[in-house]
Amino acid sequence: MSERVSIAVNGQRLEADVGTKLLGAIMQNNIPIETACGGKGACHLCRVTITQGKEALPAPNATEKRALGNVLISQGMRLACQILLQCSIEVVVPVPRPRRQGNLPQRRNQ
Ligand code: FES
Repeated sequence: MSERVSIAVNGQRLEADVGTKLLGAIMQNNIPIETACGGKGACHLCRVTITQGKEALPAPNATEKRALGNVLISQGMRLACQILLQCSIEVVVPVPRPRRQGNLPQRRNQ
């Protein structure tokens, strides 16, 4: 039986196996989060803010440092796809931005 950790995401408490990617735990619980690369560390959209437990997480890796820079990292921001869960944390996930609909022709009432 694998060890579990507790995560609070936007105040919603959930559990995941130790070693699970934070992005995966968030998506498995149907919490909306932006991603365009499927967790490969390429899109930099899966930004979350760690509000509790950031000191217990592994240090940001090179992908996170390149994507976020020292200022955002010092404020607790991380890439959810780069964090392997090892301890209980609390996270704020921003609400995904609405997708643009493009320039669809306007319908006229006739
Ligand atoms: S999901 Fe694309 S960088 Fe994390």
